[in-house]
Amino acid sequence: MVHILGIETSCDETGVAVVRDGEHIVAHRVASQADLHRKYGGVFPEVAARQHVVTIYPLIREVLTEAGLTPASLDAIAVTRGPGLVGSLLVGVNVAKGLAWAAGVPLIGVNHLEGHIYSNWVRPPDAGASWRPPSFPTLALIVSGGHTELILMEDHGRYRRLGGTLDDAAGEAFDKVARVLGLGYPGGPAIQRVAAQGDPTRFSFPSPRQPGLNFSFSGLKTAVLRQVQALERAAGVETGLERRMVPAGRQALDPQTVADLAASFQRVVVEGLVEATLEAVHRTQAAHVCVCGGVAANALLRREMQARMPVPVSIPPLFLCMDNGVMIAAAGYYAWRRGERHGWDMDVDAGLTLPTLPEGESKA
Ligand code: KG4
Ligand code: ZN
Repeated sequence: MVHILGIETSCDETGVAVVRDGEHIVAHRVASQADLHRKYGGVFPEVAARQHVVTIYPLIREVLTEAGLTPASLDAIAVTRGPGLVGSLLVGVNVAKGLAWAAGVPLIGVNHLEGHIYSNWVRPPDAGASWRPPSFPTLALIVSGGHTELILMEDHGRYRRLGGTLDDAAGEAFDKVARVLGLGYPGGPAIQRVAAQGDPTRFSFPSPRQPGLNFSFSGLKTAVLRQVQALERAAGVETGLERRMVPAGRQALDPQTVADLAASFQRVVVEGLVEATLEAVHRTQAAHVCVCGGVAANALLRREMQARMPVPVSIPPLFLCMDNGVMIAAAGYYAWRRGERHGWDMDVDAGLTLPTLPEGESKA
């Protein structure tokens, strides 16, 4: 039995977990900072880093106590070393180093995107006996606040990039459109909630799809902004051209129009993501589709992915879609199996990318 402690502090959630054999959640905790950042309308980096400092030790203590383990009885400590906010990453990495050094256990730096992918290899707590991890080749759609990527995973640790966003990430688009609509932060859950009462066919917004298997979300966000401004002008309300932020609950539009705007935006995003994934499955003959990252919590995306893919689809339970320590421990387990270890001089890397295979190299 291999027990790995996973530590995640790349953005605004402090996540800590112990995972057994890369699959079984032994104990886990996430401390969300959403309430702290709400008044800024997004993540305030310095506030995030300082809150990790406050939260991380009590969280590790709770998780180890619940798991009935001491640091020295762990097989490794895995920690997110990038991509993410540098100040936030530094907290997790330094805590992981100190703990691993003192306890004499190996240190493994994990790529946050690899973590999201591996959330699909974690056995959901309510999974039945028939649950199986994804089979290869797997097509992974990573949709989070910072990333939108289509990756073909040929085997553990072997990634081929097929496409991704050329500008904003899908989650970022949800967050920005929520601001324009005066729905507050974080935007994804707010848009989903309001959209449930809306007509998704009332407004036609441009598809986020771009040539190849790429996406662009910034034009879509601008189209929503222009639509809002046109509606406000028509209603005789003037809120200024550069409407960067509308305090939650103070939008000038009537609630039904806001709901229709949210539903129409959500529909076009989900359509774009599903159609690109479908095209990628056909191109690559992938045997399985995995969806992960914060936007994978979206109910419409989950429903459409399950309904429209010709191969089995894995989408983690909601608590594993958001940033968490479980996925870092799971990804750390596969790195541990490959013999990957980091030295005490391991640095954080805010712009770390997924280690993809060079063009043209195929599986031996
Ligand atoms: O993976 P994550 O927790 O953090 C990053 O690594 O970025 O993703 C956070 C993102 C935010 O942009 C948030 O608005 C979005 O995931 N999100 C959603 C939903 N829940 C969270 N987007 C759409 N629908 C949701 N239900
Ligand atoms: Zn994430």
